[in-house]
Amino acid sequence: MDRDNLKKQFFDLMLKNRRMSGEHQYTVPSPQTYPYQWLWDSCFHAIILSYCSLEDAKKELLSLLSHQYTNGFIPHMIYWDKAKLSDFPVVEWGKEDTSTITQPPMLAYSVWQIFQKDQDKAFLELIYTNLKAFYDYLIEERSADDHLIGIINPDESGEDNSPRFDEPLGLPPNASLEENFGRRLELVGQNKSCNFETKTCMQNFFWVKDVPFNVITVENLRKLAEIAFILDKTDDQKYFLEQAELIITAMKKLMFWDGIYCSVYGLEHKKIQVKTWAIFAPMFATIYTKEEAKNLVNNFLLNKDKFKSDFIVPTVCLDEPSFNPDAPQIKGTVKVKPTDLSWRGPIWMATNWFIYKGLKNYGFESEAKMVLESTLNLIEKSGFREYYHPKTGEGMGAKDFTWGGLVLDMI
Ligand code: GLC
Repeated sequence: MDRDNLKKQFFDLMLKNRRMSGEHQYTVPSPQTYPYQWLWDSCFHAIILSYCSLEDAKKELLSLLSHQYTNGFIPHMIYWDKAKLSDFPVVEWGKEDTSTITQPPMLAYSVWQIFQKDQDKAFLELIYTNLKAFYDYLIEERSADDHLIGIINPDESGEDNSPRFDEPLGLPPNASLEENFGRRLELVGQNKSCNFETKTCMQNFFWVKDVPFNVITVENLRKLAEIAFILDKTDDQKYFLEQAELIITAMKKLMFWDGIYCSVYGLEHKKIQVKTWAIFAPMFATIYTKEEAKNLVNNFLLNKDKFKSDFIVPTVCLDEPSFNPDAPQIKGTVKVKPTDLSWRGPIWMATNWFIYKGLKNYGFESEAKMVLESTLNLIEKSGFREYYHPKTGEGMGAKDFTWGGLVLDMI
């Protein structure tokens, strides 16, 4: 598939999935399965849209900010026009228009990506207060003395049923997807009962310092610092860079174990040793040393018993007991259930994008090319799907799913 053809196919998909609500414009990740607006999806969409229309990329982000809470929090879902979609199953998060959890903070990164292309300072000025408020919220409400940022529900990681969260949820690696979803719903109920007070309450039920979430925060704080500099806010610039460094120092101290970074939970920072794609995530913010990254790539990415399946990169290490590439299949137009998705082995396009960017940071050109080629093969073979089987390349989950468009940022 040549580049122009690929571009056209993705732009057509983005147009097909575009929605308007009053003056707000956003893109749904998949019309049949995900008909609302999601936080990190919209950040990915802005990156994809920056290759065709910067105006549309900006609108996508501005619509996200329309539902920011006064304390800076941005919800992971906005239920635009919920009444019109009343037959679509939704989780009751405790609020009418939005969910009450967040998602990995890719916002500053996507704003910066847009700015790289048009140097539009006015857009930065327009969006800066909201941006700053979001990252201030994460620093002030989601971190404590250890400086790591905590999540209060697995869904905040964006990898809803990843086996990284089995242990803190009190589930065995072979628990069914229904059991897993049941535990996550219980958490929603517990959080509702204490009015979503992070510090005094929500941390009591589930409080995980997840590797990708912290890595993404670090890289985004750096981009936010760049934005602050452009706007002559040098105190903010310094502050955000310091905060990024504090997180990195804490990650090195509390998460690093046997050559990889592990997510941790509880007051004693218990390390979660299940290996998922998250071990590669710190390369996205260049947190591994060159030597550590080299060992990681050789021992895991290029190892046929670990992550080098026929198609790459599986989200869970092939030798983990929780590795289960045969995720539920959505058939025809049957309404999907929230259990019909899997972060327990299949390949997702956004994680490939993070890994690709990380490999490039270290100059691992041939490995980055290998990830890109597999990504392109999957799209060519199976189209725009939510995730793909690491052995057969078969497309699974939602159809007309947008994340494959991130490949435009890789070619
Ligand atoms: C699933 C994914 C999540 C994504 C959402 C919408 O819940 O796990 O990361 O944001 O779908 O695409």
